[in-house]
Parts: sequence; C-alpha cells; structure tokens
Amino acid sequence: MVRRAVFRSLIRMVVRAALAAAASCAVLACGDGASAAADAGTCVVDEPDGCPSWTKDVQPIIEARCYGCHGPGGIEQSYRDFTTYQGVSGAGTTLATDVLSCKMPPPDAGQPTPRERGALVTWIECGAPKD
Ligand code: HEC
Repeated sequence: MVRRAVFRSLIRMVVRAALAAAASCAVLACGDGASAAADAGTCVVDEPDGCPSWTKDVQPIIEARCYGCHGPGGIEQSYRDFTTYQGVSGAGTTLATDVLSCKMPPPDAGQPTPRERGALVTWIECGAPKD
C-alpha cells in the first residue's frame, strides 16, 4: 500500500509537471492552455478515491471513447492500438496527460464524462492494475 502511494504520487508529479508545461491548470480542472481544451470549453476531471479496475472501469471507457480512432480499423490504431491491455498501459503518462488536459479525445470527437476521464488518469497513476 505504501509503495503504491509513493509510486502514485511520483506519477502524479510527472503528469502535473508535463501539464504545467503545456497549460495552466487548477488541480482538477483545466480551462485553457492546451488548444484542444480551449476549443472544447472547460475540461473537468473527477478523480475517484480508489484505484479503478482494468476490466470493470477502464477497458469499457476505452472501448466507448477511444476505439473510434484507436480501435479496430481506426485511423490511429497503427500509431496507438488500444485494443489490448499492453497497448493502453504502455501509453502510460502520455495517455494520462492527454486525457487530463482534454487533448484526447480530440474536441470534435465524443467526450468522456469527468468521471470517465478521472478513472483513466487515476488508473495510470495507480500503476495500471490489470484486475
Ligand atoms: C477522433 C479520433 C480520436 C479519438 C476518439 C481518440 N484519439 Fe487519441 N489520437 C488521435 C490522433 C489523430 C492522434 C495522433 C495525433 C496527436 O497526437 O494529436 C492521437 C494520439 C493519441 C495519443 C498519443 C499521443 C502521443 O504524443 O504519442 C494518446 C495517448 C491518445 N491519443 C489517447 C487517446 C485516448 C485515451 C482516447 C480515448 C479517451 C483517444 N485518444 C481518443 C485521435 C483520436
């Protein structure tokens, strides 16, 4: 538990630092900076207290919100294939940063809810548990 907490806060630092470089954001809500977020309006992220599950939480969100481009036949599948656990977990802090800043999904695509966004970010911060 302690080790996970340390790991998690380290990842969080990396994610926040990357964000700070790209945009000026409050802890839980980004309003500007990343141009995609500006186009989409306010980016709100609602992070859960515990660690989300891959099968129950994350995979269904990826399928609903990301498969259009990163799934079977999607325009970005060759670049980032999210049809496997390895593909999603391997995107790591890049995925967390892009979702937290509302760079992904692109503003003209269907948007995750704040809770869905929070689940993706927190799952990466938890070390991408495969449960
Ligand atoms: C409408 C199409 C579309 C959807 C839907 C979409 N993406 Fe993307 N994604 C792209 C495109 C295009 C790129 C490559 C260009 C770029 O990085 O902006 C990309 C790149 C990425 C990258 C790699 C960025 C990098 O710097 O290597 C990540 C991570 C990512 N997307 C995550 C996601 C996640 C997570 C979702 C779902 C919550 C999602 N995307 C939904 C189109 C999409």
